[in-house]
Amino acid sequence: MKRIAVLVSGSGSNLQALIDAELQGQLGKGKIVGVLSNKANAYALTRAQQANIDTAIISHKNFPTRESFDQQMHQQLLDWDVDLVVLAGFMRILSSDFVSQWQGRMLNIHPSLLPHYKGMHTHQRVLNTGDRFHGCTVHFVTAELDAGQAIIQAVLEVRHSDTAESLATRIHPLEHQIYPQAVQWFCNEQLIWCENQAYFQNKPLQVQQIFCSSD
Ligand code: GAR
Repeated sequence: MKRIAVLVSGSGSNLQALIDAELQGQLGKGKIVGVLSNKANAYALTRAQQANIDTAIISHKNFPTRESFDQQMHQQLLDWDVDLVVLAGFMRILSSDFVSQWQGRMLNIHPSLLPHYKGMHTHQRVLNTGDRFHGCTVHFVTAELDAGQAIIQAVLEVRHSDTAESLATRIHPLEHQIYPQAVQWFCNEQLIWCENQAYFQNKPLQVQQIFCSSD
């Protein structure tokens, strides 16, 4: 069994997709054992409680430094005896110490086709540039923000009528497809990390892409 902790700050629709996938037997050997939020009012916590998953609230506001906050999270993850950390709308930048402790065992989802549009406001930035394609990426987390090795991307074609809101609405369900898939690969050891390199089905990882029709 692979013990999974999900880190959240907000609504937790990706957490819900992971909970649903686990219930449907689609996380392979993965089991969500804890949900950690830095915000006490995150709706994601309600989702976890409804699914009888242990929760922890660690507010960054109660810590003098990023490092001390991260150390407290690290301790909680050790207490849960976690094999995989899944960032699902967790809106804090992590210290390099924390990231290196979980290197190869921590995934994130980001609403763009990385390496394009790291950081915030990705949908508006895609529209401003006039890109034809947009999407979302699950990637390993490294100390540099949104720069770790990409595992799977869902790609869609931008419509002339799209707004930042419509793109977010169209991309969210794609996130809910690709995140459980990546977690399943990790939990079934089809996706592994060894000496600073990710392997997928015994070959060096190349990003897997799924193209989604615009209908
Ligand atoms: C998701 O769209 C995710 O891609 C984004 O936060 C949202 C969380 O939604 N993450 C980032 O922007 C990380 N840089 P959710 O709480 O409904 O899962």
